[in-house]
Amino acid sequence: MPNTVLIGAQWGDEGKGKIIDVLAGQVDIVVRYQGGNNAGHTVKIGDEHYVLHLIPSGILRDDQVCVIGNGLVVNPSALLDEIAEVEAAGKKVQGRLFVSDRAHIVFPYHRALDAAREALLAEGSKIGTTGRGIGPCYSDKVTRTGLRAGDLLTSDYPALLQSRLVEANKVLAAMGGETLDEKAVLADYLAVAERMRPYIKDTVTYLGDAIRQGQTVLFEGAQGTMLDIDFGTYPFVTSSSATAGGACTGSGVPPHKIDRVVGVIKAYTTRVGEGPFPTELFDADGERMRDAGGEYGATTGRPRRCGWFDAVVGRYAAMINGVDFWAMTKLDVLDTFETLRVCTAYEYEGERLTEMPASVNILEKCKPVYTDVPGWCEPTSHITRYEDLPARARSYVEYLCELMGGQLGILSVGPKRESTLRVGL
Ligand code: IMP
Repeated sequence: MPNTVLIGAQWGDEGKGKIIDVLAGQVDIVVRYQGGNNAGHTVKIGDEHYVLHLIPSGILRDDQVCVIGNGLVVNPSALLDEIAEVEAAGKKVQGRLFVSDRAHIVFPYHRALDAAREALLAEGSKIGTTGRGIGPCYSDKVTRTGLRAGDLLTSDYPALLQSRLVEANKVLAAMGGETLDEKAVLADYLAVAERMRPYIKDTVTYLGDAIRQGQTVLFEGAQGTMLDIDFGTYPFVTSSSATAGGACTGSGVPPHKIDRVVGVIKAYTTRVGEGPFPTELFDADGERMRDAGGEYGATTGRPRRCGWFDAVVGRYAAMINGVDFWAMTKLDVLDTFETLRVCTAYEYEGERLTEMPASVNILEKCKPVYTDVPGWCEPTSHITRYEDLPARARSYVEYLCELMGGQLGILSVGPKRESTLRVGL
C-alpha cells in the first residue's frame, strides 16, 4: 500500500481505530503523529473489544512495527499499562513498539494543571477536556520547559523533573489547584523512566531509513479536523495538529514521501466536550443515534453529542487534508430513520455561508441549511458488498461524497472487521 495518512474529518470519534486496523494489515509500519492518551481508538476483533489510547492500532495485527512519533505527548504510566493490556491479549509489544525520543512526556502535574485550568474557566468557556493533561503538556513544549522521552534516559533527568515539580506546585497553589507530593512523584517517575527504556528510540532516523528501503507507512491521526489546534473550532479544540499536515511535523517524514490521504467520516456527526456544533440534535432523533451508535466517549465515557451529517465540515476537511478517499463509518446507525437531513450550508444573520467560518462566535450563531433525503429503513450490518446495499443507502453515501468531493474508499456498516466494505481502496 502507498504511504497513507489517515485522519478524522469531524470532531474525532469517526471510527478511525477500525479503519486503521483494516489498513494496517497492508503496511510495514504504523505511526501515530499527534495527541496523547486523550484519544481512544476502538477495535473489535471477533468478540473481543480493544480500546487503545496511545499505541497505534496496528499493534493488534501480528507483524507491524508501531511508532509513537515526536508529535505526541506521552503519559508513560498510561503507556506501560496499555502495553501490559496488549501483551495480555497475546500480542508481542517489545521490539514492535518505539517511542520517539523527541516525544514530550505528560507528568502528573500536567493533569493537575488541566483540572485547575478548567475549574477556573467560567461556564460557557470551559473546553471540556479529557482531563489527561494534554493541553498543559503541549504548552510546556511550546514554552520550551517540557521534558522529552529522550531526557528520561539521561543523568540530568532527576534534577530536571525535580525543578519542574517545584515550579508546577507553585503554579498549582496560585491557581487554587491540588498540589503534588514532589517526593512521591519523583520516585514513581524515576522508576517509570527505567521501564520506558526499551521503547525509546530515534524514530525520525528509523522512519527515514525504513522508507528509503521501501517499507510502507500508515500515519494514524487521532481526534479530528475540527479539533485541530489551527483549523478546528478554536478554542474548543485539542492542542495538536490533527490534520494531515501534522503527519510530517509529528513524525519527521517529509511531505513528498506521503502518497495519499484517507479521511474517516461518520455518516452523521458527533462531538464530545464543549464548543459549537451546528447540526446538533436535542430531540429523539439525537437519542436514537446515541443509542444505536453507542455514542459514549471511549476515553472518558461521556455521552457524545449527536447530530445530522454536516457537509460544510466534510468539504472543509476534504480541502485542508487533501482527502483522496473517504472511509465512511457507522452507516448502519441510520438504518431506522425514515428521513435523513444533510446540512449543505449555514445561514448566518441572513447570509448564506458555504465555507467554515474561523470564529466560533460566528459558528455558534450559524443555522444549518438542510436537504432532506429518504432513509432506507432496512438493516445493513450483514451486508458485505457495496452493490448489495439498499439503493437509498448508496444514494445517501454517494450524495455525501459528491457534496464533499473525494472518492468513497471504504464503507463500514458495523463494528466488526468483517463489516467493512472495500469500495475503491
Ligand atoms: P483535550 O484534548 O483533552 O485537551 O480536550 C480538548 C477537546 O478535544 C475536548 O472537547 C475533548 O473532548 C476533545 N477530544 C480530545 N480527544 C478526543 C478524541 O479522541 N475524540 C473526541 N474528542 C476528543
